[in-house]
Amino acid sequence: MTFTIAIDGPAAAGKGTISKAVAAHFGVAHLDTGLLYRAVGAKTLRGEGAISAAQTLCAQDLEADTLRTPDVAKAASKVAVIAEVRAALVDFQRAFARRQGGAVLDGRDIGTVICPDAEAKLFITASAEVRAERRYLELIGKGTQITRDQVLADVKERDARDMDRAEAPLKPAQDAVIVDTSTLEIDAAIAQAIAAINAQR
Ligand code: C5P
Repeated sequence: MTFTIAIDGPAAAGKGTISKAVAAHFGVAHLDTGLLYRAVGAKTLRGEGAISAAQTLCAQDLEADTLRTPDVAKAASKVAVIAEVRAALVDFQRAFARRQGGAVLDGRDIGTVICPDAEAKLFITASAEVRAERRYLELIGKGTQITRDQVLADVKERDARDMDRAEAPLKPAQDAVIVDTSTLEIDAAIAQAIAAINAQR
């Protein structure tokens, strides 16, 4: 029996933290699909073509510790609009979703495109200002030189590119449960996510 949990939402809404906690709670594997796009984006920053970068992506590409930078995030959202790039990453994601014992996949199009038949779907969101503040604190904590205004501008630019693209745009699946984390502490957000998944199973 498969047990696939699809978790989508915009950048810095708490998706990553919630997905890890949900995977641990249910004892299933977790795939952060944003890493795939980040790894392709990082290769384009090194001069490779986006489509061939996606078609030749390997496990080693996902291990680079530079994948979490704002430049790579921006490059990721640029390659993510290309249909051939998305197509090259579909099979890997679907195979992961069908793992024995179940899986959590988090991204932008998991509930809508990659796993439309997932047993549970969540859409994790928060206001752009709250998300930008969280991302700002995270980046400052890592020693990145950046201003609040720059982070907010980056978040809004990336939201617009993810939501307005023709291929697999960011939007909640019709049957997704929305969790707005704007005013929630992380523990409360995790509890709400787990309750929503149990209610859908
Ligand atoms: O989730 P993360 O911020 O790491 O994603 C980086 C970028 O990758 C997103 O802004 C989006 O453009 C793209 N992405 C996507 N589909 C996914 C996951 C990420 O288009 N399933």
